[in-house]
Amino acid sequence: MRKKVVIFAAVIVVIAAVLIGWDIANRSGNRSAQSSSQTSVASVSSGSASGSSKSGQVDKNGKTLIVYFSRTNGVYNGPLKIGNTKRVADFIQRKTGGDEYEIVPVKDYPSSYEATTRVAQQEQNDNARPKIKNKLPDVSGYDNVFVGAPVWWGEYPMVVRTFLDGVNLNGKHVIPFTTHEGSGLGNTPETLRRQYPKADVLRGLGVRGSDAANSQGAVDRWLTRLGY
Ligand SMILES: Cc1cc2nc3c(=O)[nH]c(=O)nc-3n(C[C@H](O)[C@H](O)[C@H](O)COP(=O)(O)O)c2cc1C
Repeated sequence: MRKKVVIFAAVIVVIAAVLIGWDIANRSGNRSAQSSSQTSVASVSSGSASGSSKSGQVDKNGKTLIVYFSRTNGVYNGPLKIGNTKRVADFIQRKTGGDEYEIVPVKDYPSSYEATTRVAQQEQNDNARPKIKNKLPDVSGYDNVFVGAPVWWGEYPMVVRTFLDGVNLNGKHVIPFTTHEGSGLGNTPETLRRQYPKADVLRGLGVRGSDAANSQGAVDRWLTRLGY
């Protein structure tokens, strides 16, 4: 009888241990599932959003300016007929009806991709401000300003920084967009926020260069979310 009681107790202990173990594993499984979904939400928003937006949307009744820098030579998937970033800029123009301004450097970059990467890296190391050929736009009448460029070494090309130094976009909705070969928006939202602490930097869009020509649908969906 005593033996039976001992065996019964041992069975109960084993069952309890299995149940507790399963519960612990389950809870930690839930936690890791939860944390991975939080991670993925966070990575979606930090990957594609620019962060500190107040309204999250543009001024619907305001005027829109689309500023871009783009090349057809010295491009990863080039030479091109139309630069990747220009394609995206034109899609933005079509839907928003905004005005376009192209940043044209005084000194063009080399026509080969490799040589361009070297010049661009040197400019970044030197914190250079290459001169812009065309007159800067008067931005005072615009409420929503898109700033687009290829990602160069994770950043806006330095000639875009020349543009940013030359205009004041504080108080406006400012929206980054890029084309790239894997870096997404790179550091462009942070650059805009640093440059214009009083701007409302909205959710940006990064398009892979080789997808730029077919990106109108994605661009339109992004613009709709921005309030266009
Ligand atoms: C100098 C240079 C640096 C680049 N650096 C990056 C980079 O850091 N990350 C990335 O994803 N693509 C990089 N790329 C690829 C370009 O962002 C991509 O080809 C872009 O679509 C070119 O756009 P465009 O035709 O408007 O000039 C680089 C290209 C060049 C020429």
